[in-house]
Amino acid sequence: DWNPGNVIAEQVARIRAQVGDARVVCGLSGGVDSSVAAALVQRAVGDQLTCVFVDHGLLRSGEAEQVEKDFVASTGVRLKVVDARERFLQALAGHTDPETKRKIIGREFIRVFEDAAREVVAEAGEHGTEVKFLVQGTLYPDVVESGGGEGAANIKSHHNVGGLPDDLQFELVEPLRTLFKDEVRAVGLELGVPEAIVWRQPFPGPGLGIRIIGEVTAARLDVLRAADLIAREELTRAGLDREIWQCPVVLLADVRSVGVQGDGRTYGHPIVLRPVSSEDAMTADWTRMPYDVLATISTRITNEVPEVNRVVLDVTSKPPGTIEWE
Ligand code: XMP
Repeated sequence: DWNPGNVIAEQVARIRAQVGDARVVCGLSGGVDSSVAAALVQRAVGDQLTCVFVDHGLLRSGEAEQVEKDFVASTGVRLKVVDARERFLQALAGHTDPETKRKIIGREFIRVFEDAAREVVAEAGEHGTEVKFLVQGTLYPDVVESGGGEGAANIKSHHNVGGLPDDLQFELVEPLRTLFKDEVRAVGLELGVPEAIVWRQPFPGPGLGIRIIGEVTAARLDVLRAADLIAREELTRAGLDREIWQCPVVLLADVRSVGVQGDGRTYGHPIVLRPVSSEDAMTADWTRMPYDVLATISTRITNEVPEVNRVVLDVTSKPPGTIEWE
């Protein structure tokens, strides 16, 4: 019988056997996967683990703080924070192709992470130990979609699988590799990771960078963050967080439409709401969510975010649509 306690016991034993006395590095993304993976490794080898949080500026409102405060408080992990927001914006400037943006974000992430990891390695060396392992919060569906599983199709490049540069001398620790999302949540709860993190909906590694259709700029990120926060507040208020698998909020930054707000004509941008129901993200359907909640989200976004004058609902299943727009 599957139960989270067994998974934890099994993984803790596995991690200890794999890691021995060496030091381990883990990149935290703010999501449930890397948080639970880190908590598992912390459970297994304690202070041999150092977590690194690369703030790439593509997170949603409040998420960086959640990693730095809530996760650290609940697990006691040693955390190194790197503010790389400006660097990511510069690297993304002028780019609009989805896979190019993913590659840039993945590449920059690895470079920044590598620098931070080298510092961890140097610090460990001063204490006579070696850092040999890197934790990845890879889930079973990521493995399959990235071509790692049987009969897999490489639908999109997921930067949390593969793509590590040759000179990266780490061996991977992937304690979630056989698990689906709901199983990861059960394991996280069992480990005492706070519910707010465990029940956080999936969020892609490239973050808001692939939810701005068009070039990513600081101003556009602000617009999307404001709209996304409103949508999340209202979904939570309506008690829909656990019913909805995830709800990408997408800014069509290169599209404009005519509107009328107050006495004036506007020429603003549309926001797309993409609430989906799913078991594992491999297939999905659009969530038939209450009209009144949609109405409240729409009214608030158009009232509170001046750059947005239209809110639209995506009613496409996966397939043929993917969950994300890019
Ligand atoms: P799609 O859009 O392919 O998304 O239906 C399936 C699930 O994967 C997430 N996703 C990503 N996660 N890096 C990630 O770590 C990515 O590049 C990426 N693209 C999509 C998406 O949010 C959904 O949960």
